[in-house]
Amino acid sequence: MPEPLVGKRIVLGVSGGIAAYKAIDFASKLVQLGADVHAILTASACEFVQPLSFAAITHNSVHTSVFEGWEGEHSGHVTLAATADLVIVAPATANSIAKIAGGFADDMLGAVLLATQAPILIAPAMEHRMWHHAATQANLETLRSRGVRVISPEAGRLASGAAGDGRLAAVDRLLAEARCVLGAGGVLNGKRIVITSGGTHEPIDPVRFIGNGSSGAMGNALAQAAMDAGAEVTLIAGPTVATLPIGVTPVRITTALEMQSAVQAAIVDADALIMAAAVADFRPAHPSEHKLKKNPDENTQQLELVKNPDIIAGISQPGLVKVGFAAETDDLIANATQKLQAKGLDLIVANDAVATIGASHSQATLLIPGHEPESLAEMSKEDLAGVIVARLAEIFARQVIS
Ligand code: CTP
Repeated sequence: MPEPLVGKRIVLGVSGGIAAYKAIDFASKLVQLGADVHAILTASACEFVQPLSFAAITHNSVHTSVFEGWEGEHSGHVTLAATADLVIVAPATANSIAKIAGGFADDMLGAVLLATQAPILIAPAMEHRMWHHAATQANLETLRSRGVRVISPEAGRLASGAAGDGRLAAVDRLLAEARCVLGAGGVLNGKRIVITSGGTHEPIDPVRFIGNGSSGAMGNALAQAAMDAGAEVTLIAGPTVATLPIGVTPVRITTALEMQSAVQAAIVDADALIMAAAVADFRPAHPSEHKLKKNPDENTQQLELVKNPDIIAGISQPGLVKVGFAAETDDLIANATQKLQAKGLDLIVANDAVATIGASHSQATLLIPGHEPESLAEMSKEDLAGVIVARLAEIFARQVIS
C-alpha cells in the first residue's frame, strides 16, 4: 500500500498563535504515520508552546534560532531546507504570512522557506477580521502565485469568543493535504476516480430496511490508497461503519437508486469507476409510509421486491475504466469471470463473500480480460487496496499505449 508519509522528512513551522497547541497533535499524527518531523518554532510560538513538547513527540531537536546547527556537515537552515520533502506552516499567523510573502529571513522559519525547494503548505489561523483583511488576503495571493498551497481556515468559535473564519483547519485536513502533496506524482497522478463503498439500505417502512453487513472497509481503503497515489477521489458511501479516509467528505447515499444517481453524476469527467459497494439487488416494491403493524392472525408476511438497476453494468462511457467486485459463496472464479464479461469490466476483484464482508482481511483473486487470474495471499483490505491501485495504474498505462 502506498504510504506517502512513511520516511518523509517534514519541516513543521509553528508560528505564534493560540492554535499553536494544535500543532503538537498534528506533529504527533505525522509521526504516527511514519514521517520524520522537524519542528521550527518562531519566537512568538515559544510564548504559546514549549519546544520540548515537539522534541518529545518528534524525537528530533527543535529549531528556534537561525544561528543554530552550523556544525560539521550541517549548515543550519540550508541543510534543513535542502533535505525537506515538504514544509508545512501550521498555524500560520497574519504576521508570519506577511513575513513569508515579503521574503523575510530574520528567523529560522523564514530562512528555511526561502532556501527550500520542497513544496510548501500554509495553514492560516487568526482572528476573523485579521483573516479577512485585504493585507492578509493579498499576502496569501502572493504566496499562491508562487505555488504555495494554502489550507483555508475553518469557521467556528475563535479564541476571542467571536465566531467567524480563522480556526486552524482540522488536523485530519492538514494530514490529508500533506498526503495529497506527497502523493502527487504517484501512479494515479491526475486521475479522477469514483469509488463506492458500504452497502445500501432499501426501505420497507420508515424504520425498517433490507440491507447487508458491508462495513465499507474495502471502498474506504481504496479511496485512501487512490488519493495516496495522487488521484482525485469522489467517494460515494452507503451506510458504513469503517473509518473514512483522511480528509474525504463522502457523497452520502442510502438506497441503490440514490447510489446510481450519484455515480452517474460523478463519472462524467472521471477516468475510472470502482464499485466496491455491496448494492442491494432488490428493493421493496411498495415501501410503506407508516410503520407496518403485525397482524395477530397471520404468521407469514409477504414482501414484494422489485429489481434494482445494475449500476456498473449500465455504464458505458468511452475511456472509463470499470472495476467491480464479486463476492461469491460458490464457484468463485467461474461466477466472477461471468460478471467480468457481462458487466463489461476491466478488472474484477473476486473473493469469498462470507469470509470477506465485514472482515478486516481478504483473500482475493484479480481477473483482468486477457490475463491469467492473479490469486493473492490473504492480506488486510488496506494492502489489497494498494494492489488494486497498482493494477489500475497498469490498466491506464496500457490505455495510453493502445
Ligand atoms: N453491482 C452494481 N449494481 C448492482 C449490483 C451490483 O453495480 N445492482 C456491482 C457491485 O458493486 C460489484 C459487482 O457489481 O462491483 C458485482 O456485485 P455482486 O453483488 O457480486 O453481484 P451481482 O451482480 O449483484 O450478482 P449476484 O448477486 O447474482 O451474485
